[in-house]
Amino acid sequence: MEIKNVTVIGSGTMGSGIVYVAAANGYKVVMNDVSKEILDKAMDRIRNQIMGGIQRGKMNPKEAEEMFYRISTNEKMEEAVKNADLVIEAVYENMEVKKQVFQRVDNAAPEHAILASNTSTLSITEIGSVTKRPEQVIGLHFFNPPAAMKLVEVVVGEKTAENTVNVAKEFVVSLGKTPIVAKDSPGFIVNRILVPVLNEAIKLYDEGVSDIESIDKAMVLGANFPVGPFALADMVGLDVALASMRTLEEKLGPCYKPSKSLVELVEKGHLGMKTGKGFYEYKKQ
Ligand SMILES: NC(=O)c1ccc[n+]([C@@H]2O[C@H](COP(=O)([O-])OP(=O)(O)OC[C@H]3O[C@@H](n4cnc5c(N)ncnc54)[C@H](O)[C@@H]3O)[C@@H](O)[C@H]2O)c1
Repeated sequence: MEIKNVTVIGSGTMGSGIVYVAAANGYKVVMNDVSKEILDKAMDRIRNQIMGGIQRGKMNPKEAEEMFYRISTNEKMEEAVKNADLVIEAVYENMEVKKQVFQRVDNAAPEHAILASNTSTLSITEIGSVTKRPEQVIGLHFFNPPAAMKLVEVVVGEKTAENTVNVAKEFVVSLGKTPIVAKDSPGFIVNRILVPVLNEAIKLYDEGVSDIESIDKAMVLGANFPVGPFALADMVGLDVALASMRTLEEKLGPCYKPSKSLVELVEKGHLGMKTGKGFYEYKKQ
């Protein structure tokens, strides 16, 4: 099956980034979210990213214009998916919200369409179970920021068909990225390893072993991390990191319990870069 039209549900940190990557690689993309206001903000971010691409010489103004016209927005989910060959869901990391989205998308998308989730940790098999096409449901787990990160985990649910896996892998390669296939399992590969590292760093801080800047610097200088764990957690979004940690705790046991400061910051609405404050403070996006 040839993928031409992609619909992305959810236009937040990841959704808008995936839209950018797909449009930059020639796909026609419809971006959906719950309101026009949210979609307008996402389009502003994409526009800024495109302008940045021109300034850095990555594309010329004509290419940028063509790319821009490949992107459209629609706040009505059923309309947004009606011509899709591939739907990529990037809504909140919450099983109930994802199940509702998949049910609606399943009812409205063409029969041949593949339905993918960008979930960080949740079960693809469980998400697929609410659809009438679980063999066409798969995980396509992009990393943040999608334009820069080269990996996409291709997560295979219990009922995902081999053809779906092959089409998904080809799609990832067409974006200039590397697909790594993983069986459906909490956190797949990267987050099973990475999210507990972030949580452990926060536990060190909670226990008074060292301060935030020093722990970040220690991991950059001592473990060759490109950014420290606190800076990374802020970039990921503390709500996303907490939801991921809670899934690992629920599925794998109490040693994955979320750290105190992580829970407290999320309760206060300090979610990292996207809200202007997390472990560090930022100029609001
Ligand atoms: N942030 C990361 O670093 C990262 C990396 C990889 C994967 N993920 C995963 O990607 C998904 C999205 O994460 P994010 O960081 O982009 O979150 P986000 O909070 O930035 O964006 C989520 C978006 O989904 C929209 N949304 C919520 N319910 C919706 C619905 N019913 N219909 C349409 N839109 C809806 C929200 O309005 C919001 O714009 C999550 O599953 C997350 O685990 C996140």
